Amino acid sequence: MAPAGIEVFEGSSTGKVILLGEHAVVHGVPALAASIGRGAWACAEPARELPQLQVGDASGPWNVDEDSDLLRAYRILNDVIGVTVRARARIDIPTRAGLGSSACLGVALARALMRSKRKPFDDDDVMQAATAWERVFHGNPSGIDVAVATHGGCLEFSRSKGVRRIDLSMPIPLCVGDTGTRSSTRQMVEHVAKELGAQADGGRAVLEGIGACVARAGRALPEGDWAEVGCAMRDNQRWLKSLGLINAETEKLCAMAHAAGALAAKVTGAGGGGCVIALAPGKQSDVLEAWHGSGFQGFAVDAGE
Ligand code: PMV
Repeated sequence: MAPAGIEVFEGSSTGKVILLGEHAVVHGVPALAASIGRGAWACAEPARELPQLQVGDASGPWNVDEDSDLLRAYRILNDVIGVTVRARARIDIPTRAGLGSSACLGVALARALMRSKRKPFDDDDVMQAATAWERVFHGNPSGIDVAVATHGGCLEFSRSKGVRRIDLSMPIPLCVGDTGTRSSTRQMVEHVAKELGAQADGGRAVLEGIGACVARAGRALPEGDWAEVGCAMRDNQRWLKSLGLINAETEKLCAMAHAAGALAAKVTGAGGGGCVIALAPGKQSDVLEAWHGSGFQGFAVDAGE
């Protein structure tokens, strides 16, 4: 890409799964999330006039329109960081599927752009810049996607307390399955706000219920007590179902995972389609076989490493 003598600066980041607490995290409840060891890569070189962006995935380059959120977000990122950069990026996770693809791309680009300034920066600087990018796509993101894309590992995140790292004694044996259906995170977040607002207690019981699941899993995760984490995930899924976030394909993938021996299966991220996660110690290949046999895409991941 760069002619001889022009230095190129790189950045990368990871996608995430939300283990428990999606949506409730927008309303102040803590959530648990983990990195999935694949995500986005970006490289940058200084540009003379306007910032330019090329992005692609396994299926090839995307069309980045002049009037797209992607280009708007990229220009904001250049402004916030104080550079004018031509960047190329590649994303290796399904997009708009609950795996934090936009935050992941934003963090990889932010790192490449910051390196191009040749000045020291830290994770807080990256998070701040990537949050400005993420607002273009999600309006009012809780910040959990950007936090995991920046820090990796397994994290508890809340709006008031920020990031708390969870030290795992072993990685989390998950399968990630793609329903093939998509929703808009912004619309799902608005839908949940309406559902909570329509309840007599303003959604307090739901948020407290989800908060209890998160707390239970948070105590069990460090020791790898998968039976306990699984119970909490199943309860969390029931609350998410009560909020209307589980579509027919999600139900189908979860039922197949349970039948193949998973301890729990639930939607991850915004819901209304997207991806599901199955907690499947010793059963990851059985779950994948069941999904692939029915035409669904999926992959195994030792999450939170
Ligand atoms: O679907 P994703 O990867 O954008 O995750 C969204 C997570 C939510 O809790 C639904 C929204 C948020 O900002 O935390």
